[in-house]
Amino acid sequence: MTTLIIGGSGFLGTELIRQARAAGHRTAATYHATAPAVTSETGWYRLDLRDAESLAVVVAETRPSLIINASSGGADWATTAEAPVRLAMAARKHGSRFVQVSTDAVFSGTGRACYDEPCLPDPITT
Ligand SMILES: NC(=O)c1ccc[n+]([C@@H]2O[C@H](COP(=O)([O-])OP(=O)(O)OC[C@H]3O[C@@H](n4cnc5c(N)ncnc54)[C@H](OP(=O)(O)O)[C@@H]3O)[C@@H](O)[C@H]2O)c1
Repeated sequence: MTTLIIGGSGFLGTELIRQARAAGHRTAATYHATAPAVTSETGWYRLDLRDAESLAVVVAETRPSLIINASSGGADWATTAEAPVRLAMAARKHGSRFVQVSTDAVFSGTGRACYDEPCLPDPITT
């Protein structure tokens, strides 16, 4: 089973790679601007999520059973909003499971201590 970690060069991605390997999964991972130290255990791919064709190539080449999107594009709509849709469609096409990481920053934190999926976002920043 190959786990493909999008944003593997980031904070969360680095830990996901470590844990996936520790659990015995083959790993492939992507970076955008920060080329990681190459190790034989993880296959690295340079990927700009705004490039739909490159995204499709990476998924087709790695044929992952699981894709985890641990990228962070900040306020860039193409990376943060459009790319996850393409990833979900690529996962569907290849029969992969897909995990999209979100953030609690979509909630203001006022009025309640816990949030779950049906809660409506009310960010205090735009
Ligand atoms: N860190 C936290 O405490 C925390 C808490 C809650 C939720 N989260 C969520 O976890 C996710 C990851 O956060 P993080 O803190 O790990 O972020 P991060 O350290 O900033 O890493 C972001 C990753 O996204 C990649 N990336 C950025 N732009 C890209 C693009 N256009 N195409 C492809 N890859 C791109 C970066 O690649 P390069 O570095 O190679 O450019 C890097 O691998 C986000 O959804 C965030 O909201 C994080």
